[in-house]
Amino acid sequence: MFKKEVYIDRRKRLRKEMKSGLALILGNSEASYNYPANTYHFRQDSDFLYFFGLDIPDFVGVMDIDNDKDYIFANDVDIEDIIWMGSQPLIKDLAAKVGVENTAPYTELSDFLKGAEKEGRQIHFLPPYRGDRLVQFNQLLGYEVSKVKEMASLELIQAVVKLRSIKDDYEIAEIEKAVNIAYDMHTTAMKMCKDGIVEREVAGTMEGISLAQGGPVSFPIILSINGQTLHNHYHGNTMTKGRMMIADAGAETTMHYSSDITRTTPVGGKFNDRQKAIYNIVLEANVKAIEAIKPGIEYREIHFLAAKIIATGLKELGLMKGDVDEAVNAGAHTLFMPHGLGHMMGLDVHDMEGLGENNVGYNEKTKRATQFGTAYLRLGRELQSGFVLTVEPGCYFIPELIEQWKNEGTNAEFINFDKVEEYKNFGGIRIEDDILVTETGYRVLGKHIPKTVEEIEAICAS
Ligand code: GLY
Ligand code: MN
Repeated sequence: MFKKEVYIDRRKRLRKEMKSGLALILGNSEASYNYPANTYHFRQDSDFLYFFGLDIPDFVGVMDIDNDKDYIFANDVDIEDIIWMGSQPLIKDLAAKVGVENTAPYTELSDFLKGAEKEGRQIHFLPPYRGDRLVQFNQLLGYEVSKVKEMASLELIQAVVKLRSIKDDYEIAEIEKAVNIAYDMHTTAMKMCKDGIVEREVAGTMEGISLAQGGPVSFPIILSINGQTLHNHYHGNTMTKGRMMIADAGAETTMHYSSDITRTTPVGGKFNDRQKAIYNIVLEANVKAIEAIKPGIEYREIHFLAAKIIATGLKELGLMKGDVDEAVNAGAHTLFMPHGLGHMMGLDVHDMEGLGENNVGYNEKTKRATQFGTAYLRLGRELQSGFVLTVEPGCYFIPELIEQWKNEGTNAEFINFDKVEEYKNFGGIRIEDDILVTETGYRVLGKHIPKTVEEIEAICAS
């Protein structure tokens, strides 16, 4: 936990952003896995962590905007809990650690909220992303389960996004820790990427490194020799020479800050010429996109810069043709990169995505595109100093998509389908780093993780 002043200050700033009413922040409860008492690893809600810091199930925080008061509602443990969990601090002592003076048992929350509603005060809350939260709103306030999501407060969402988007120095230090754990995960994976090894041996080792150094991975590891499938969680293939392993994986620190790194490694440690050519195109897109990062530029613009680098490279290889600007305007590059360049990162690996992607990555000035591929770009808006985001261009050969476009004649004036046909068994390449937007430009966070062809081949051989 950070020192209590951090949380006091965050709540003070939140109250300043809001006009009136109460801001209700529900912490998470345990979630059952395969029977009630066998639970998933507990993960506190990120907004609760941000404002109230306590990493314990069944806590609720309330910020009273009109009276400048904060509350924590939670139950003290009883003797039966102590038998299983050991002795636990009192709620009032835990609350004091995050600068909250007012505490009450959870059983008093419903009357407290209903009382405020009777006085005509608005209860602002964030959109729930777990089913049990919908039921909780019904129990606490009588809201209809099917209506709860749409009742979430846009004013509170926008205030939270404004605060959480700008990372403080102590948050950046945590994110760097997470990237440094990812350094260990990825360099280990590179060394393991040999003919005959099964994907799960590498994925499991990476996960263990994360757990041993802090928390679990920041999202289920994507690791596959079938990198053309963007989010491939199947780890049952045996690695064979000639394939490449995409490993897209990050760690969560004990403070729950994330990293998200992707590297692509040739099985056996040596890229062949065809792989090297595509790899260097994606690498150029990664490096040039990172170099373009600065406050005031729209991230969408950097996305298109990366798209043009990929289209230019693929044209040089004879896979694309025609005018590159026109091709990218038409979306022809999305055959090869049907996803966005990156997203915000922080307490969530896709930071604040639960608050609505458009509320986080877009605004009045920058609206989300509807075109295939580009519509997946999670962050389009103008960058500000203090943002932490990912840069993750890729190039994939997805046989089904190629087949569909070829049959439909989609973007036929920009794609050399006969040549693309030769790459149908290629797989995919993605290279991802985590970047801080600084006042003058950018800083790549964490230790440098081998990224060039030479660096990757060297670590594989080590
Ligand atoms: N690293 C996985 C993703 O960004 O979706
Ligand atoms: Mn990512």
